[in-house]
Amino acid sequence: MADALGTQWARAGHEVLVGARDGDKAARLAARIGPGARAGGLRDAAGFGDAVLLAVAYDGVKEVLGHAGDLLRGRTVIDCVNGIVHPGVTLATGAGPSVARQIADATGAHVVKAFNLCPDDLWRMTPPLVDGRPLTVPICGDDTDALATVRTLTTDLGCVPADAGGLDRAGVLEATAAYVIGMYIGGVDPRSALPSPM
Ligand SMILES: NC(=O)c1ccc[n+]([C@@H]2O[C@H](COP(=O)([O-])OP(=O)(O)OC[C@H]3O[C@@H](n4cnc5c(N)ncnc54)[C@H](OP(=O)(O)O)[C@@H]3O)[C@@H](O)[C@H]2O)c1
Repeated sequence: MADALGTQWARAGHEVLVGARDGDKAARLAARIGPGARAGGLRDAAGFGDAVLLAVAYDGVKEVLGHAGDLLRGRTVIDCVNGIVHPGVTLATGAGPSVARQIADATGAHVVKAFNLCPDDLWRMTPPLVDGRPLTVPICGDDTDALATVRTLTTDLGCVPADAGGLDRAGVLEATAAYVIGMYIGGVDPRSALPSPM
């Protein structure tokens, strides 16, 4: 996800800093993204730019946030994490707080849930299209400025942002991702189970 979205944002003219626990891996990704991208550590990434994309496996979220320490307080954090348990495609968070809420509580960041519903292949398209139409990206968050930043980053991908409620609704996006992934694994187009707009 860091590769897919970082590449698109660099292409749109943004500066990107790739941070990872493995510095060589971060450097390779920054080189692949090309102009506009550079590499650093996790703390460098936590403090860089107008927004931080957390593109980490759910099991690593706590550890990565630990590296960031207090650096994320008050910053815009984009959470695309899906905590999915296989087999069965259930939510790792169970009936507890969403991943987004856990990140917000752990960091004091202005968390915006976004980009978690579609696979990286789609985010690599310029622009991402579904049935020939620009992809809609639901976003959930509480902070006005953070939401505005993520709307801009969504538009810069060539997508259409859709306000999907406050951070309390982030769990809905996480459950929707589990639904979508589960249907695809079962060989069913998840959109075929949804009503067309009246
Ligand atoms: N791929 C998709 O299509 C897609 C779509 C929507 C949402 N998502 C979500 O986006 C997130 C990233 O997915 P991805 O496909 O980009 O995954 P990925 O390519 O496997 O990358 C996951 C990253 O998490 C890092 N990581 C894992 N545990 C860590 C730890 N304990 N400390 C530090 N870093 C750790 C890995 O670092 P190392 O390389 O050092 O192991 C790796 O850089 C996931 O939560 C996923 O559910 C993915």
